[in-house]
Amino acid sequence: MIVKILDDYEKVSEAAALIVKALMISKPQCILGLATGSTPIGLYQSLVRSCKNGEISFRDVRTFNLDEYVGIDMDHPESYHCFMEKHLFDHVDIPKGSFHVPWTDGDNAERDCERYDRSIFEAGGIDLQILGIGGNGHIAFNEPADFFTEETHITTLDERTIRDNARFFDRMEDVPVKAMTVGMGVIMHARRIVMLATGANKADAVYRMLCGEITPRVPASVLRLHPDAVLFLDREAANRIEKLPFIHKM
Ligand code: F6R
Repeated sequence: MIVKILDDYEKVSEAAALIVKALMISKPQCILGLATGSTPIGLYQSLVRSCKNGEISFRDVRTFNLDEYVGIDMDHPESYHCFMEKHLFDHVDIPKGSFHVPWTDGDNAERDCERYDRSIFEAGGIDLQILGIGGNGHIAFNEPADFFTEETHITTLDERTIRDNARFFDRMEDVPVKAMTVGMGVIMHARRIVMLATGANKADAVYRMLCGEITPRVPASVLRLHPDAVLFLDREAANRIEKLPFIHKM
């Protein structure tokens, strides 16, 4: 995993966006894996700007999101469906039907998970996967566990994740406790991974991802085995690893 430290959130967003744009220009029919959460918002803003000024187009791009809450409506303002419309899909030229966000109403979740994996496989897999990292080291909603789960699945969110997500909801009891998430298979088979982490509250997770054991207890640690993964950090998220010799400061 290549690690690059930049000054701040804006620079991290721009550096990651540049990689996405380069791919969209060199491969207009690329398959993007998308993340939600606070971290990639600046990256999406940059993609929206570039799309509006004609530098890039989503006309032939297809996208697959990592995850979605279970138990809230698709049109709930905090659903990841709404998040993606608000921050990206409503502002770019992506055709309806070209973007996919996991969804299950819970009636036949196993079938919905299988279908999601199949649709990614049939699209040819992910060319470039955008990732954030949870404060507990999760990627997508693969929470710390005794083993890695390969397939898309329904997961119970970790206490730390529920606490972190509470900032988006009015009341603690409204915060979803379950989610549908891609597993490690989709992520680790992505041809390229671009991960972003910003802010001091990510510093411990970043340290454990890069310097500890590779273990399902820190799901992001497995990314060290990916052949083409780059991690962009701001100074705060990097504050526990800055002195390590393999780090590129930009
Ligand atoms: C979101 C996702 C999560 C987030 C992570 C960090 O689709 O898969 O793993 O990337 O929880 O969230 P933020 O960016 O809000 O700190």
